[in-house]
Amino acid sequence: MRGAGIPGQHTLPLTAGVNSQEHLVIGGCDVVDLLAEFGSPLYVYDEETIRTRCRQYVAGLSSAVPDALVIYAVKAFANSAIFRVLADEGLGLDVVSGGEIYLAHRSGFPMDRVYFHGNNKLLDEIELAAELGVGRFVVDNFSELGRLDSLGQRLGVRLPVLIRVGPGVEAHTHDYRKTGVLDSKFGIPISTGQAETAVLQAIRARGVDLIGLHAHIGSQIFEMAPYLETVDIVLDFADRMRELHGLTLREFSPGGGWGISYTHEDDPMEPNEVAQTVGLAVWKTAADRGLPMPRVVIEPGRSIVGQAGVALYTVGAIKDIPGVRRYVAVDGGMADNIRPALYGAVYQPLLANRMDEAPSGQMTIAGRYCESGDVLVKDAQMPALHAGDIVALPASGAYNLAMSSNYNLALRPGAVMVRDGEARLIRRRERYDDLLAAETDLD
Ligand code: LLP
Repeated sequence: MRGAGIPGQHTLPLTAGVNSQEHLVIGGCDVVDLLAEFGSPLYVYDEETIRTRCRQYVAGLSSAVPDALVIYAVKAFANSAIFRVLADEGLGLDVVSGGEIYLAHRSGFPMDRVYFHGNNKLLDEIELAAELGVGRFVVDNFSELGRLDSLGQRLGVRLPVLIRVGPGVEAHTHDYRKTGVLDSKFGIPISTGQAETAVLQAIRARGVDLIGLHAHIGSQIFEMAPYLETVDIVLDFADRMRELHGLTLREFSPGGGWGISYTHEDDPMEPNEVAQTVGLAVWKTAADRGLPMPRVVIEPGRSIVGQAGVALYTVGAIKDIPGVRRYVAVDGGMADNIRPALYGAVYQPLLANRMDEAPSGQMTIAGRYCESGDVLVKDAQMPALHAGDIVALPASGAYNLAMSSNYNLALRPGAVMVRDGEARLIRRRERYDDLLAAETDLD
């Protein structure tokens, strides 16, 4: 098997290679065999890539600060088999819904390493989180702070909270992925004075324990400058809150959002470098200001699972419009990957069953759903494709299955985790009965 220099290598899992049949191999498994065994389409996750990313983040952050915690943003892909790998690597979880909390609990995840985020946490979710013992509530607004305070008082406990502040930092990414700007539905802005009010309220509240502060500026970000700016702004705020109101910053999270390669144009930093840079910035800024060193928590999602996951599709109908375009339709599309339609996300497809073939022309990889916008890759350079060929979309591990739907009553694809030549199902493909499970009027 050859590994180095294969097409699309920097977008593929770390174990990717090509075997003597010119098939793509991931985690020692030939993807053609995987489709034959598990059906198409299929999402393949490489355990080694996930573990490597976890270790890089943990090592990078721990090299910079004495008390470090890496938590995985579950919204990127919620799956119990992956949670077990993460628990094993010492990570925590960032969850945003009762569903994610419930899955973490049912997976046996240590709930004290679970952080509950979200801009409109529902009362029953907050109660569930308290009952299951989540480690932190990341407070997004005043009404939530009030609810947590009442609940804590009712339960006779102080619920551990971080306040999510809005630092007013703009990062270069798609508008839908910016969260650190003033005009955002997330967090309590520092610049308006509201974050100070929230800190005061939390310090005075008898039902919550204010552990620290959190900020998150967005997602699929490649530069470190906006993170360094965020560290500076939030620690400056923490320093003022210490002077004015006696805040002790025991924990600080500058969020997640580090980008991955979807195409050869993307050039992300390695996770250990990212984590170390952020950690050192906190360490230095806190030291300069004479702040006690807080525990530093970072929360990557995409960069833990994104590159580890590859989507595999089978080619079906091919339509040529002479002089206009060739459409190659596959057996998935926007129901399992909404990202091209939603963000104009670009992927670099591979012909997974003939990896040696050079591109021979331009074609558009279309999905099978009833929307003209259901295009996975526009104007891709690919070898000639035929029905039955296997198209792989690398960098599909984050926010694909996570944002999937049953549009057109589509069956969501299955997922397997591969390692050392073994594949195990971590999510079965849906069946028609799953689609009907919530219907109330069937006999
Ligand atoms: N922390 C918070 C508070 C977040 O809101 C997010 C992502 C993360 C951490 C993790 O960000 P990551 O490391 O995964 O970039 N659906 C979009 C991305 C939405 C991100 C939402 N929040 C996409 O497919 O590009």
